[in-house]
Amino acid sequence: MSTRSRGEKEDGNVNSFLDSPRARARNPSREGKVNLKRQVGLFSGIALIVGTMIGSGIFVSPVGVLRQTGSVGMSLIIWFVCGVLSTFGAACYMELGTMIPKSGGDLTYINETYSHVFGFLYTWMFMFLNRPASVAILALTLGEYLMTMFYGENLASCPPSPYMFKLAATGCICEFSSVGNHISGALCYAELGTIILKSGAEYVYLYEAFGAIPAYIFAWSSTLVFKPPQISIIALTFGAYMAESLISPDCGPTSVVAKLFAVLAILLITFVNCTSVKWATSVQNVFTVAKLLALAIIFVVGVVRICQGYTDYVSPSTIFEGSSTKVFAYGIAFYQGLWAYDGWNQLNYITEELIHPYRNLPLAIMIGIPMVTLIYILVNIAYFTVLSPTEMLSASAVAVTFANRTLGPMAWIIPFFVCCSTFGAANGTLFTAARLCYVAGREGQLVEILSMVHVKRITPAPALLFTSLLSILMLIPNDFDTLVNYFSFAAWLFYGLTTAAVLVLRWKHPDWKRPIKVPIIIPIIVVVASVYLVLAPIIDAPELEFLYAALFILAGLLFYFPFVHFGYRPRIMKHFTIFLQLLLEVAPSYYVSPEEDQD
Ligand code: ARG
Repeated sequence: MSTRSRGEKEDGNVNSFLDSPRARARNPSREGKVNLKRQVGLFSGIALIVGTMIGSGIFVSPVGVLRQTGSVGMSLIIWFVCGVLSTFGAACYMELGTMIPKSGGDLTYINETYSHVFGFLYTWMFMFLNRPASVAILALTLGEYLMTMFYGENLASCPPSPYMFKLAATGCICEFSSVGNHISGALCYAELGTIILKSGAEYVYLYEAFGAIPAYIFAWSSTLVFKPPQISIIALTFGAYMAESLISPDCGPTSVVAKLFAVLAILLITFVNCTSVKWATSVQNVFTVAKLLALAIIFVVGVVRICQGYTDYVSPSTIFEGSSTKVFAYGIAFYQGLWAYDGWNQLNYITEELIHPYRNLPLAIMIGIPMVTLIYILVNIAYFTVLSPTEMLSASAVAVTFANRTLGPMAWIIPFFVCCSTFGAANGTLFTAARLCYVAGREGQLVEILSMVHVKRITPAPALLFTSLLSILMLIPNDFDTLVNYFSFAAWLFYGLTTAAVLVLRWKHPDWKRPIKVPIIIPIIVVVASVYLVLAPIIDAPELEFLYAALFILAGLLFYFPFVHFGYRPRIMKHFTIFLQLLLEVAPSYYVSPEEDQD
């Protein structure tokens, strides 16, 4: 059923967004187009929110929050306020999501409220900064935890090994060559591909030109002769660099090891996502259980410790000792905490797939986010029943230190589950990037190739490869804290803009139907908070990274005006698109939800 007819039927109100001329202009004819099905119910909605929000943050950020706030008490307050802010933010998105029941989240609301320049800048920021940084942070956390499983907690902080860079380069080549098969002859293939409009590349061309037998020989030898050595050579080079990078001659295993694992994880996730949508969604489901188990164990241990009387670091009389008095220093503490909560707007990306959106969207948000807030606060308290603040500050993987102290021979279980948790979250983050690509493609704001799908595997391979390549590039020079700062700065700039849309739309379109109308104070609080969040870290410690992020976002304008606003398409772009299409075996298509793929 189409969104439009559903909207009309359910509200029966002529003044809804769906009847606005703008909405009609965007959805001219739906004939012959695939529409998303409504299959996500309340439970899945809550699972999606909780599953996305819990990833790496709760296993790493407590250290960063404590470092900035200076005391256990203030840390716990920050974790609580982050939860409240996320709930308020989500409440505003709830009003937007039920008023404009189209998928696409922030991008849709920004496009409907402001000029399309802002929508473009959002896409730009999201594709080049936000998504790659998210995947990089998650993979890095995975790397840190995996490393502690092999080498123990204390690693020497050695300078990065030069092999790291070679390794990354090899990884990138590996990534491309495993998906795109035909680099060398691509231009000849461009001719063949445009005469013979069939998928299947060599096989089809040989078949058409020489008949079935050569085509068959090709298929046979490709599977048995060409591919295996190609993969082995790449794997061997990869392994050689990896081995040399793991141990630095002077100081043993280095923190670079974590990055290597992170790169490997990104490559694996990309492979899974490029190969099958079904695999990608299964990874997501299986690994969501792991994160809840990890948190449950930490929580139970915490309760036992409290019952045993280990409450020194969480006793109300001393809890606020040493709190920082610098108002703006808390900005970075919020960045760390809010990273752990990020994902609260996840459901708004798939409003078109929600069953009874007017009921389930608000319910899922109002159950999911407070639940995560409670879990995070309890887990933080549990950490402090085992670790002193000083010990916490020196832990790079806090949950491992916690487990080593309390779980004895079973301590490995926590890093293992954390690895699963971050792997699942990175997988989901990479996966959803493709959905935004689709919406941006639909609105004509992105190069065509990024919204194409693999002809056989029906996966958005170009978008996936693009995001994972950027993620690897971001990972190499940066650490967890820097990446979180980049991410949060850019993210809150746009969360603020989207929340302000609630206020702007109330003034511009008071007549649009609002099945849910939040008290006006809530968007005001969120907008003020995002202004603080964007400015505070700059005022407290004007780091160049914020300037880079801001300049980068603005640089999007250089592309917007020629290519989107004036629609200029250089000729070379067409050739380039065809080249990439043949290389990656992708074709334009209407987006089909992964759930429908499984039908
Ligand atoms: N909150 C998650 C974590 O703690 C990260 C979520 C990334 N954001 C997203 N929309 N997938 O790791």
